[in-house]
Amino acid sequence: MAAQPRMRADRAAHPQSLALLDWYDRHRRVLPWRALPGQRPDPYHVWLSEIMLQQTTVETVKPYFAKFLALWPDIRALAAAEDQAVLSAWAGLGYYARARNLIACARAVAALPGAAFPEAEEGLRALPGIGAYTAAAIAAIAFGAPAVVIDGNIERVITRLEAIETPLPRAKAEIAAALRPMVPAGRPGDFAQALMDLGSGICRPRNPDCLLCPFRGACKAAAQGRATTFPVKPARKGKPVRHGTAYFVRDGVGRILLGTRPPKGLLAGMAEIPNSGWAETAPPEQPPLPAIWTRRNAPVIHVFTHFELRLIVAEAQLSGEAPPPPGLRWVAMADLGQEPLPTLFRKVIEAV
Ligand code: ADE
Repeated sequence: MAAQPRMRADRAAHPQSLALLDWYDRHRRVLPWRALPGQRPDPYHVWLSEIMLQQTTVETVKPYFAKFLALWPDIRALAAAEDQAVLSAWAGLGYYARARNLIACARAVAALPGAAFPEAEEGLRALPGIGAYTAAAIAAIAFGAPAVVIDGNIERVITRLEAIETPLPRAKAEIAAALRPMVPAGRPGDFAQALMDLGSGICRPRNPDCLLCPFRGACKAAAQGRATTFPVKPARKGKPVRHGTAYFVRDGVGRILLGTRPPKGLLAGMAEIPNSGWAETAPPEQPPLPAIWTRRNAPVIHVFTHFELRLIVAEAQLSGEAPPPPGLRWVAMADLGQEPLPTLFRKVIEAV
């Protein structure tokens, strides 16, 4: 009979939520900050873990969480700690503003009656280091409030379930609207954590295990065979564009002129087609030798991590053989395969 209130709350829930909770009851991750079934969650553990998990993976957080609990087993202990001791214990977790907010938050909560965390999202949000996501997560997980919790995993799961085509972050309102009626009154914390576990274990970014998913049959993206196209990301801001000229020259015996890139920097030490270098506005022409140069209209476009390069290709044909200009060498077309020629310059050769 003890389980009855939970059953009743579950039965009132959305069918997908029931399927998810059922899956969670069988497959939930055991995590050091999670209360075991039937146990009451400790708000201090929930808060501490949620702060640590901001921008940090579960595996990285585990030893830090254990260390903090060993050093400061409750909110009063943490509030009484020296700043420097907390910052040292945090070292390596990154985003150090979190550690400073952690101390400030611990002291603010320790000053409240009973040193108790506020239970409502609003009260939680007023504390240092607690934003919308963290307030919702703590309210749901620690206090059973029917909060709508949306982290990156949950965004992925819900945009797939509902095939939400709106790009992030604009899709957040639609995600919240889809989630709100799904939150089961009796188990909102388990529901949020079930979505997190589903996103991390099954509804993965690249290789989702749709056959094992409790939402199979209901997932609109999977039904369209397009799970991995969600969430739709915002159009990327264009990369900066750089311009330059590459000089492709052949001699009378079919060899082409190559150089070697400097030992430091982009494509260091690789082979190159002689070129003018590249910059935001095209650098001055720098042909490697005097000849009749013809320029191709269509540039070779190559995308590096931090910029897009547009190289105009200038071509020349020499008659006979001549010694190479200083620092350059003639290479037979048949020997190009042995040259450390990066894709960019292979594209230049293919263009002519
Ligand atoms: N990431 C953030 N909060 C989490 C939680 N409670 N469980 C698993 N992953 C999380």
